[in-house]
Amino acid sequence: MTAPCYPRPIVLIGLMGCGKTTVGRELSKMLAMPLLDMDAVIEEQLGKSIPDIFREEGEGRFRALETALLRYLAEQGGHRAGAGAPIISTGGGVVLRAENRDILRRLGFCVWLNVEVPTLIARTSRAANRPLLANTNRRATLERLCAERSPLYAQTAHLRLDSTKMDVNAVVKAVAAAARDFFATGAGGAQ
Ligand code: S3P
Repeated sequence: MTAPCYPRPIVLIGLMGCGKTTVGRELSKMLAMPLLDMDAVIEEQLGKSIPDIFREEGEGRFRALETALLRYLAEQGGHRAGAGAPIISTGGGVVLRAENRDILRRLGFCVWLNVEVPTLIARTSRAANRPLLANTNRRATLERLCAERSPLYAQTAHLRLDSTKMDVNAVVKAVAAAARDFFATGAGGAQ
């Protein structure tokens, strides 16, 4: 597919291990749109890793930083200064705050990568970089997060993609095609 370079962001949401980062990276290459990984931006801003932010400053501080970043992006119309509309890879808990959900939905085309828990468990086996999974029963934690957050992902997303059995390439193609339709219709028009 030739690079369409959409006017507004494509936003990937979903639980830890659903593929947001991997899919985001591949979509960014395919569509020639910059990748904005919210966790990476926050780590860069604070000069420390997500586990260190959680440990030293608490989850509340991390959630405040997520919201601050989204407010900034909303003010910029979804772009970081000087850059084109990005692919935004979010952290799994970004939907917890109503304000975040509202901003994300207005920011661009939101895709929920909906992946079943057994696959999430397998994909998060190296849980060291995920403080919410460290030292827990991953199955129980992911099942709880899935139950708590699925309604919030559903509220936020323009598209729910049940991607458990899809490989990365198929997910990327499906998201790109749906984004093309979204931005081609009134639904994807200016904010
Ligand atoms: C979190 C998910 C993580 C990261 C932080 C909290 C969550 O991102 O933002 O550890 O609350 O689900 P990924 O979904 O990219 O792992």
